[in-house]
Amino acid sequence: MTNIFSPMMLGDIALANRIVMAPMTRDRAGPGDVPTATMAEYYRQRAGAGLIVSEGTQPSRVGKGYWRTPGIHSDEQVAAWRTIADAVHGEGGRMVIQIMHVGRAAVQANKDADAETVAPSAIRCPDKIPGPDGEPVETVMPRALETGEIAGIIAEYAAAARNARTAGMDGVELHCASGYLPMQFLSSNTNQRTDGYGGSLENRIRFVVETLRAMADAIGPGRVGFRICPGVKFNGVDDADPHETYAALLKAVDDLGLAYCHLMHIPLPGQDALDLVRENWRGAIIENGGLKLQTAKAVLTEGKADAVSFGNLFIGNPDLVERFRAGAPLIRADRANYYTGHGNDQVGYTDYPPLDA
Ligand SMILES: Cc1cc2nc3c(=O)[nH]c(=O)nc-3n(C[C@H](O)[C@H](O)[C@H](O)COP(=O)(O)O)c2cc1C
Repeated sequence: MTNIFSPMMLGDIALANRIVMAPMTRDRAGPGDVPTATMAEYYRQRAGAGLIVSEGTQPSRVGKGYWRTPGIHSDEQVAAWRTIADAVHGEGGRMVIQIMHVGRAAVQANKDADAETVAPSAIRCPDKIPGPDGEPVETVMPRALETGEIAGIIAEYAAAARNARTAGMDGVELHCASGYLPMQFLSSNTNQRTDGYGGSLENRIRFVVETLRAMADAIGPGRVGFRICPGVKFNGVDDADPHETYAALLKAVDDLGLAYCHLMHIPLPGQDALDLVRENWRGAIIENGGLKLQTAKAVLTEGKADAVSFGNLFIGNPDLVERFRAGAPLIRADRANYYTGHGNDQVGYTDYPPLDA
């Protein structure tokens, strides 16, 4: 029987417990998309998690689409991530950076004026995305990537993985969910390409397979995880047959020796995504989505996943693991401050006290 508080290995990463902090964009990076000291304090406070997955972090200026998300492509960014890695490691925690290239899910005002927006096909994301003041804005019409450019995008992901290790991070997670660039390649409605990266099922999964392979080659497969949400239509992705797509993807990357598959599990009619992952993937699984302590324990004791992740609960409860251990009450975080606070980055971010305060 797997105890939620028991240590484990996720690939090459040694976790003190099986409780993972899910990736959460909080829109608080500084000028130049450089992580701040406030972010270091936020992550340090949450280092009791067996593993922290950072907020979505762009591998290039082009890959940015939201307001004040951090990057992992400049020397200054890498140096700042190092202070975060040191802060988390100082508390005995482990941390990976989630690499997020948004593709077409981008608002121009959120990124550099000269940074273009690219996608598998020139089809605009129909969903509006919050701009600098938090109000929803039309997304940019993307330019379809030339076949010859794709190797360069994959190389940026590999460089981001190397940068994460240079910063002292324990690894990286490929953000392959929520309708961002990798999922735009996977989904039949956003990928209308006629080259080797579109059309057939094998071609639609190629970008993700090659990206994961490149990241694994860069830093070792045991330090690379990936996140999926089969069938979810966030940011306008709508795959004709998610079951077929993700079964093929999981089988194709099954023998790469990757650290884990992180499932953002949103219940959808006619398909249980956790069953889908378990049937097609032999590596470690992190289950996520609306879990409470009891339901998370059940997932582990039933052997359906190896670890569990929590998003919302980690916002208001920095010492969530201690609270779970103690059976202590949980704080419900104020959603108004989920993204950039009202003029003050600390509010609703680093000001949730631990149990013993
Ligand atoms: C404020 C906020 C920001 C999020 N940002 C990201 C992100 O950057 N990358 C990602 O993969 N998921 C992101 N998510 C989704 C969470 O990782 C998680 O899947 C979701 O909150 C469901 O888990 P929960 O029910 O434990 O909160 C975000 C969720 C929240 C609440």
